[in-house]
Amino acid sequence: MKPKQLRDLYFAFFQSKEHTLIPSASLIPTNDASVLFNTAGMQPLVPYLLGGKHPAGKRLVNIQKCLRTVDFENIGDNTHHTFFQMLGNWSLGDYSKKEAIAWSFEFLTGKKWLHIPLTKLAFTVYKGDAQVQRDTEAAEFWQELGVLPERIAFLGEDNFWSAGETGPCGPSSEMFYWTGGGAAPKKFDPEDNRWVEIWNDVFMTYHKLKRVLLVDGMFTIYDSEFNVNSEILTVLNSFNAQKILVVNGFRERGQKLLEQHGFEAFSMEEKKVNKDNPLFFGTLFKKYHLTADEVLYFDHKKENVDTAKKLGIISEVYQSPTQIKEFIEKNLFGFKALTQKNVDTGMGFERALAVLSGKKSAYETELFSRSISRLEELSGLPYQKKTREMRIVVDHLRAAAFVLGDDFALTPSNVDRGYILRRLIRRAIRYGKLIGINVNFTSRIAEIIIADYGNYYTELKKNKNRIVSELEKEEERFNRTLEMGLKEFNKMAAQTGLISGKDAFLLFQSYGFPLEMTQELAMEQGITIDEAEFKQEFEKHQELSRTASVGLFKGGLSEHSPQTTRLHTATHLLNEALRRVISQDIHQRGSNITAERLRFDFSFDRKLTLEEVKKVEDEVNRVIRVGLSVRREEMSIQEAKLLGAEMEFGVKYPDRVSVYFVGDYSKEFCGGPHVTNTKEIGKFTITKEEACAAGVRRIKAIVERG
Ligand code: ALA
Repeated sequence: MKPKQLRDLYFAFFQSKEHTLIPSASLIPTNDASVLFNTAGMQPLVPYLLGGKHPAGKRLVNIQKCLRTVDFENIGDNTHHTFFQMLGNWSLGDYSKKEAIAWSFEFLTGKKWLHIPLTKLAFTVYKGDAQVQRDTEAAEFWQELGVLPERIAFLGEDNFWSAGETGPCGPSSEMFYWTGGGAAPKKFDPEDNRWVEIWNDVFMTYHKLKRVLLVDGMFTIYDSEFNVNSEILTVLNSFNAQKILVVNGFRERGQKLLEQHGFEAFSMEEKKVNKDNPLFFGTLFKKYHLTADEVLYFDHKKENVDTAKKLGIISEVYQSPTQIKEFIEKNLFGFKALTQKNVDTGMGFERALAVLSGKKSAYETELFSRSISRLEELSGLPYQKKTREMRIVVDHLRAAAFVLGDDFALTPSNVDRGYILRRLIRRAIRYGKLIGINVNFTSRIAEIIIADYGNYYTELKKNKNRIVSELEKEEERFNRTLEMGLKEFNKMAAQTGLISGKDAFLLFQSYGFPLEMTQELAMEQGITIDEAEFKQEFEKHQELSRTASVGLFKGGLSEHSPQTTRLHTATHLLNEALRRVISQDIHQRGSNITAERLRFDFSFDRKLTLEEVKKVEDEVNRVIRVGLSVRREEMSIQEAKLLGAEMEFGVKYPDRVSVYFVGDYSKEFCGGPHVTNTKEIGKFTITKEEACAAGVRRIKAIVERG
């Protein structure tokens, strides 16, 4: 089976059941701050699963780009991938379990569709718990279609699906395909890994909430003398919920005390503290955007608890720390029935394609065959010999190509998503070296991926230049430090037999080794790393760089109104335009910005002609019109220098610096602030060009918004 065939079949099947085909959303979630990347097809649809109206209707089908990094260590085996695609169909409050199961069955076994013999399939359903019923219904639906009871297993946790700790969720039913040789055993054993999961139908009928803990501070956490009840503090601290403590009476002192203990404290005007007055809760909910069922409340006063209960708030009178503990444990997570019954299904495209093609893994299908062949050529080694290493390389580079190719325009960095991207690329490079590749290869593999996937994911073709150039830059950067870093690592390990958190931080800071890579290297030698110490070092340096950027910021700008911010970004463009249009040798010698104009001094030994001035002006306006996005990255000074970021002559920079990138156009050491897109700048005009000092010229310019 070919990738396109499987995708088209899936779409055609669900379109025949009146589903609307929607495009894959960006890999990067736009409506959910809780995850860095979409990890399932349903994630971009969360608002609609919770009741919002989707413009394409109530029945949807698509293939969604996903990225999961939890399984990083498993990459290289048969079934895991960091980047993967998920086929899915959804009912947003339309059909439910019966139809979902019937259609899954028809698509899997139907002659016109996948036509898998039923003897090769097995199914799981939810066995139930204290809050959610055993799903005998799902089992019955499968049986009505001809599935034998011995091919249905009732499981626990595995069959209750939610994307994260909170959000829409529900019992699920998974479908398994027999990949072992010969006939499948009559009785289904979910523990036997020759049964491979290929599809998951989730009956999303619940909304899982993590509750906020609301505690009356007085006489609960502390007494009137402000003696803290440490036993209660311990209990509260052991719960990883957002905690809000209400302080009444001794407002300021109490609030401070609670904040010192890491709680979020909320104080009320004294006259409103009376909890018989529902306004108290109303104000609180409004401030924190809460509803009654998101709150867990306890208090030492029974009358307050009674008021809360009347309002639908789960609450209890507190008597002992143990009691509080039990109460919270029982109620910390709440299941709210969703107003609409949804279906969310997910078929891992890579896995499904592999089993349907009779292959052990997706790496042996067309999805990877050309990139793996290329690795064989580059390394001179066969895939059979370096299976794990080659799988890691192509998995990571495919993921990196998709992240870089996403319209979101992410680039490698040391924070959040950029860091994950960096880890993927750098790990691929290291494994490339392990199989003996000694040329730059990441962009070569990416080009194959773009060619293989770009017809469907057209953004890859559109953003090809960025994918290739970012990979090349990152590879250059890492190549310069990898060898030295490895030497340093070996020295550290040999000297002391261990790698301290500080050592790991040094490797990170000076050689660009992601922590996880150092951990992996250490593990290969049976060494562990003190992660907490690494984090401490990391935070210490972040602190330093923040102060450093504040300093720089103060130096460049007289204030930071929107107009000076626009002029500030325009200054970066001018700096770069001068180099591009006039001479590569031009560098900044100083700058000053007020709300009226920018002033920019630069090294150059003669007056610019009127024509040159016009050319520079046009160039800046051209870039403004293109609408490049501006982003900030923090990095070590060595790294920024290697990147070739512009710095001002004579300025002393700290170890960690902040670099501003205007698209791919300019990069400069800078503390900001800047506009987010050059379009915001307006029209750029040079008002003066004059001598400033020997070999230094000065330009003054303004920007106007049309
Ligand atoms: N959201 C479900 C999954 O990812 C379908 O398995």
